Amino acid sequence: MNPLLSRLQPYPFERLRQLHANVTPNPAYKLISLGIGEPRHATPQLIKDALSASLAGLASYPGTLGSAPLRQAMSDWMARRYGGLAVDPATQILPVNGSREALFALAQTVIDASQPGATVVCPNPFYQIYEGAALLAGAQTWFAPSDPARNFAVDWAGVPEAVWAKTQLVFVCSPGNPTGAVMGLAEWELLFRLSDQYGFVIASDECYSEIYFRDEAPLGGLQAASQLGRHDFKNLIALTSLSKRSNVPGLRSGFVAGDAAIIKSFLLYRTYHGSAMSPVVQAASLAAWSDEQHVEDNRALYREKFAAVTPLLASVMDVALPDAGFYLWAAIPPAFKGSDTAFSAELLGFYNVVVLPGSYLARDAQGHNPGAGRIRMALVAETAECVEAAQRIVQFIHSKVH
Ligand SMILES: Cc1ncc(COP(=O)(O)O)c(C=O)c1O
Repeated sequence: MNPLLSRLQPYPFERLRQLHANVTPNPAYKLISLGIGEPRHATPQLIKDALSASLAGLASYPGTLGSAPLRQAMSDWMARRYGGLAVDPATQILPVNGSREALFALAQTVIDASQPGATVVCPNPFYQIYEGAALLAGAQTWFAPSDPARNFAVDWAGVPEAVWAKTQLVFVCSPGNPTGAVMGLAEWELLFRLSDQYGFVIASDECYSEIYFRDEAPLGGLQAASQLGRHDFKNLIALTSLSKRSNVPGLRSGFVAGDAAIIKSFLLYRTYHGSAMSPVVQAASLAAWSDEQHVEDNRALYREKFAAVTPLLASVMDVALPDAGFYLWAAIPPAFKGSDTAFSAELLGFYNVVVLPGSYLARDAQGHNPGAGRIRMALVAETAECVEAAQRIVQFIHSKVH
C-alpha cells in the first residue's frame, strides 16, 4: 500500500458521524441538517434538457482537452463575468470533472516531492481536499490562519520566510469555505509578489464565486492578475465549478484556467489519469456556462434566505452576513466554553439540528485551532427550513444562557 495514505486525516463528516453516534435526537422535532454543504436548489431545466439531448455522445471516447466549443463557452463566460478578461481557450483552459478532483490532481502535477521539505500552504480553516492533495503528493502542509478581526482574511504575511522558501503550491479559497471571505486586490498583489520571489504555484479555488451578497461580484484570481498587468497568469491557476453556480453537484463539471505552461503539464497528467469529461456532460456544461439567468435566480434565492436567517442568529451569537458562499461561520456563545463539538452534540440532542463543529474544518497550527469555538451552518435547504433551524438554535442558546 502507498504509505502516504496513512497520513490522511478522517474527513469532517466522518468525525461528525462519530460525534453524533451516541446522541439521541429529540423526537419532537424533524431533523434539519445544516451540516453538509451540498447545493439543494433545483437543477435548471435547460441543463437537464441539454444533457438528455446529447446522449448520442455516450458512443464515443472524449478527449481530455474537451471540445473546442465548450472551452470557447468557458472563455466567453470568463470574459463576461470578469470585465473582458482574455483567457485563450486553446491554451489556458481545461474542463475538469468538478473542482474537487482538479484540486487534487493539480497538486499531483505541480509538486516535486524530491525537493527536501516540499511544502503546500493552505488557509486554516480550509476545504479538506487541499490537505489530502498535498499529503498524497508527498508534500507537507503549513496552515495560515484566517483572522476574524480582518473579516477572516488569511494571514499570508505571517507565513515565515523559511516556509515560503520550501513552498511549491498555495491553495487560495475565495470566496472562502467556511468563512465566506473574498480576497481583495491588495491580498492578491501580496501573493503574486511572494509567488514571484519563491516560485510557487497558486491554486485559486473559486467554486462559490457566483453566490454573493454584496453589490459587487467577487474578484477572481485571474481578474486580479490581469488588473495587475499579469496577463500571462504566471504560476496561477483558477478552478471553478458548476456545482454551486448551477445546482448540479451530480454533474461533476468545472474548469481550470490560467498559466498555459501549467495547463499543458496538467493536460499531460490528466491524459494518463483518465479524467476526460463525458461528451454528455460537456454538452450540458456548455449550456450551463452560456446561460446567466438561472445563476441570477439562484443567487436571489440565497440572498432571500440569508436575509431571513442571519438576523435571527445574530441576535444570539457572533455571526454576520458573509461576503459570499452559502455558509454562516459563527462563534458560539461563551456559555458553551468554546466547545463547538459539545454545542453540535447538544443541539442535535435537544433540537434535532445538525451543524458542523468548526474545529473539524481546521488544524491545530501555531498553537491553536482557528475553527475551535465556531460552527459552520450550510444554508442549502429551503428558506422555511433554514429559518426553522435558526429559530431552534435561538431557543437552544436561550435555554443554555438563561
Ligand atoms: C471550497 C470548495 N472547493 C471545492 C469544492 C468541490 O466542489 P465540486 O467538486 O463539486 O466542484 C467544494 C465542495 O464542497 C468546496 O467547498
